[in-house]
Amino acid sequence: MTTVIAVTNQKGGVGKTTSAVNIAYCLAKSGHKTLLIDFDPQGNATSGLGIDKQKLEATMSDVIQEFSLLKNIILPTEHKNLFVAPTTPQLANTEVELAGAARRFTRLKNAIASVSDYDYILIDCPPSLSLLTVNSLIAARYVLLPVQAEFYALEGLGQLLESMKLVRKSMNPTLDLIGVLPTMMDNRTTLSGQVYQEIKKHFPGKVFNQTIPRNIRLAEAPSHGLPVGAYDRFSKGARAYKNVTKELIDRVS
Ligand SMILES: Nc1ncnc2c1ncn2[C@@H]1O[C@H](COP(=O)(O)OP(=O)(O)OP(=O)(O)O)[C@@H](O)[C@H]1O
Ligand SMILES: [Mg+2]
Repeated sequence: MTTVIAVTNQKGGVGKTTSAVNIAYCLAKSGHKTLLIDFDPQGNATSGLGIDKQKLEATMSDVIQEFSLLKNIILPTEHKNLFVAPTTPQLANTEVELAGAARRFTRLKNAIASVSDYDYILIDCPPSLSLLTVNSLIAARYVLLPVQAEFYALEGLGQLLESMKLVRKSMNPTLDLIGVLPTMMDNRTTLSGQVYQEIKKHFPGKVFNQTIPRNIRLAEAPSHGLPVGAYDRFSKGARAYKNVTKELIDRVS
């Protein structure tokens, strides 16, 4: 059975892509056939896995427009068990065109239904509560919510939880929050600790025990087109994502 997880937070720059890429890598590394769907027009997950966006023949835009099947645009990566469905900025235009289209909310769900041989599918969402994000919430079994450990961390999350509620009521009754992942934790500051406590209070039982530290290796790895585990597997960031992935697998099963 395939477990579909949307990595989402409408706030920008909180660590969605970093978490999606690195958790997908750790899942693959631990023997799970994993597909990372880049569903953000910025295409950061695509380039973060070393794929040259100029050379792509078909992308998620074609899938969402129903010109291509998802299985036909998937690319292997240099990492065993890890595959990617790439994206370019074209997806932003596609989203606009989709606005009045039939079945516009279920394009991603339908696309995913046609691939069956993955253990995990992770969706890297854009920083908005847009049609793309709604498609992701409808397609996913779980939401993974990265939250940056900073003062405004919880602001705006009410809206996301509200969207999840609406989606649950209408099109996807089993959608569930699998976990909240505090990112860019700076253990030298008391603020990080305070925000962590605040997040735990807000999401009882949902916060991962392992948090993600601020770690320069995590920021460097994408410029080499690599997940941090392949770039520097002894770094703090690599170890943190490995542990988070273990917790994630436990929560799924
Ligand atoms: N734990 C970390 N330590 C240091 N740098 C990090 C960490 N996590 C992410 N970054 C860096 O912070 C920036 C934002 O991270 P990322 O792209 O993962 O966020 P995002 O939520 O996907 O952003 P967007 O909303 O634009 O899609 C990137 O430059 C990334 O390399
Ligand atoms: Mg991103």
